[in-house]
Amino acid sequence: MSRDGSRIPGFYRLSVTERRALLRSRSGSDGSVTDPLGALDGGLSLDEADGMIENVVGTYALPLGVALNFRINERDYLVPMVVEEPSVVAAASNAARMVRASGGFHAVADPPVMTGQIQLTDVVDPHAAAARILAAREEILALARAATPRLCERGGGPTGLTVRLLDTDMLVVHLDVDCRDAMGANVVNGVCETLADRLAALAGARVGLRILTNLCDHRRVRVTARVSPAALTCQHFAAGDQVRDAIAAASRFAELDPYRAATHNKGIMNGVDAVLLATGNDWRGVEAGAHAYAAKSGRYAPLATWRVDAGGDLVGELDLPMAVGTVGGALRVHAGARLSLALLAVDNAQELACVVGAAGLAANLAALRALATEGIQRGHMSLHARVVARAVGATGEVLERVAEELAAAGDVKPERARDILERVRRLPPCDLPAPTVLEVPK
Ligand code: MEV
Repeated sequence: MSRDGSRIPGFYRLSVTERRALLRSRSGSDGSVTDPLGALDGGLSLDEADGMIENVVGTYALPLGVALNFRINERDYLVPMVVEEPSVVAAASNAARMVRASGGFHAVADPPVMTGQIQLTDVVDPHAAAARILAAREEILALARAATPRLCERGGGPTGLTVRLLDTDMLVVHLDVDCRDAMGANVVNGVCETLADRLAALAGARVGLRILTNLCDHRRVRVTARVSPAALTCQHFAAGDQVRDAIAAASRFAELDPYRAATHNKGIMNGVDAVLLATGNDWRGVEAGAHAYAAKSGRYAPLATWRVDAGGDLVGELDLPMAVGTVGGALRVHAGARLSLALLAVDNAQELACVVGAAGLAANLAALRALATEGIQRGHMSLHARVVARAVGATGEVLERVAEELAAAGDVKPERARDILERVRRLPPCDLPAPTVLEVPK
């Protein structure tokens, strides 16, 4: 994507049809998004849904939006988000704009290594059993490679084996598998089942569970973002350095208090889950891994923190497990998820992990900035005002004007919206805000 490919001033003022046309025109040049319309209307037929889960009686739609302004590792991304909560997309876009002014997000994703667990029970002498398994390491890894020929051909496959003693009669064997661009649940669970009997024989034990762990702490993403105080300045809390210090204090609050850390992390997951849903990924798996990782020290902690650096900038750091795929899973069936990936134009699962992590850090920054200044209700109020203004029939520039007045009045009710709409419709056209000029980057 071009240097300013994710900047589209005024995008939110366009109609859905205009936004779709714009997306189509932007992706047309490289052909990456070939059929936005069909895929944007749910992306899943009833027949496809019926083949996906059991007892299907319908499909269930959620809004798909696009977060703007994201620049990650020197590349621009239009970030698809599926979410039911108003303000998540707008907030992430705003935060991404603040970060982009200082160069954008920097993200590093670990190689896509998932870990499978094979539980062994009724072990008589766990130390001796563990020693026998480790002595047979090469044999076990060869069995694992033989069970994953296609993955090995693609440069992935089993990479390591360790044994953990859990109790006087219980062991667990961890098998690490490089899953390449898949999330990896199927392949890892399959290979664990294949190896279990041989491991139990070596240990003189019974086979227990054979399943991956969602605490994939070898498959993490780390994202950093820098924001200058000037970029943080906000309408009702003018000084940027005050906003910066308030965000750093909000971060400390989360570091010191698990009750706050849970909500802080929820704000991160607002961004993370929305991209995972849009791209057909297993958001429950990532959620499970994120919260287990947040508690790794024995005390639940924030997954992202913010500090003021020596130069006076606010610097944020996020670190969390991120098992995502760009092949397989729901992507086989769901045209909407495939379209989201095409829009992102990521080359592989690691690049997708970087985008998801950046969306999480952006959502966190936006939430902390709002909370540390005017509170989140005001922003929610303006978005809610737009919904109410639309519901009473306002469109285009009139909608913006009605929503603005409605929010300013602090009385976001349909009756009030109707009164404002009637008055605004009687105004001469020059009293309405000038139309936004849409910049369509070449
Ligand atoms: C609401 O969905 C998310 C927030 O509560 C996050 C936070 O408190 O940091 C605003």
